[in-house]
Amino acid sequence: MKSQLEQLKQAAIDALKTVTDNESLERLRVEILGRKGKMAELMKQMATLADEERKLVGAAANEVKGAIEAAFAEKAEMAEGAERAERLSREWIDVTEPAIGVRSGIGNLHPVTQVREDLEDLFASMGFIVADGPELESEYFNFTALNIPPTHPARDMQDTFYIEGHPDMVMRTHTSPVQIRSMKKYGVPLRAIVPGRCFRNEATDVRHEHTFHQLEGVVIDKGITLSHMKGVLETVAKHLYGADTQIRLRPKFYPFVEPGVNGEVTCFLCKGVGCRLCKKSGWLEVFGAGMIHPNVLREGGVDPDVYSGFAFGFGLTRLVMLKYGIDDIRHLEGGDLRFLKQF
Ligand code: PHE
Repeated sequence: MKSQLEQLKQAAIDALKTVTDNESLERLRVEILGRKGKMAELMKQMATLADEERKLVGAAANEVKGAIEAAFAEKAEMAEGAERAERLSREWIDVTEPAIGVRSGIGNLHPVTQVREDLEDLFASMGFIVADGPELESEYFNFTALNIPPTHPARDMQDTFYIEGHPDMVMRTHTSPVQIRSMKKYGVPLRAIVPGRCFRNEATDVRHEHTFHQLEGVVIDKGITLSHMKGVLETVAKHLYGADTQIRLRPKFYPFVEPGVNGEVTCFLCKGVGCRLCKKSGWLEVFGAGMIHPNVLREGGVDPDVYSGFAFGFGLTRLVMLKYGIDDIRHLEGGDLRFLKQF
């Protein structure tokens, strides 16, 4: 009987080798391991054996049965794997393939980026470099180095986001700290602009937003005067609003310039006659500027007895709003595609 068992095992293993699909595998399983299968038949014959003999053959039979079952299980697993591989090769999808009939999602530059890049080109043509500085700024660069000492009331002009646990850090309230950073980094003579995001703790409405963009400029050399400044700012105004645009400078206090001015351009909508946009004044306020204060030059490592310079800060966000007639500043940082797709 033992040899019969061995034969059955060998026959099963040989038969398994020829099986290629699940269906014939199942048929073979029934044939050998089923209730009326070959294995069951052999077991039946065991009943005729003597006790002693039956014990021995029984053990061998269990072993053989176990081996055959294991061989079947292994084959089943292989068949499943092969089937899965076959299915995968049939059903693969190329996730990078462009969708058919779906409008491709090509975006466009944000209006602030468009105006910023246009101004970067203009300033580059006048020999300015484009500099950069951190948005999370030290309180020293944002205020103290700009001639605004800790107790100075000028700090109240800008509602500042301070950083919890870091009393010496602020979200920069303007791009002016990069005036000092550029002096330290590039030295003089210096011609640089700094476009960038600024932050103020505003109660938001159509004209106030916690995040907005400025474009700072700084020019330092021997013999720089206010008329150089006026020339540069006039060039910018004409570039933005047309050749007949004029600028008007009126005194304004900023601690980091002396003298300081508030800069306006003739209203491009009414050409200075007075309208809704310029609130009947004929002028639009678009920048602050002035001759860099000696204290600020010194702070940047520049000798004010040898060098002089001017600085200006455009409200870049405001320029964009004026250019496109955007009446609510909150659209610009809102991320609403219905708004952004219009540019
Ligand atoms: N930093 C000033 C502001 O944010 C603008 C400014 C820049 C004024 C440079 C003068 C010179 O209001």
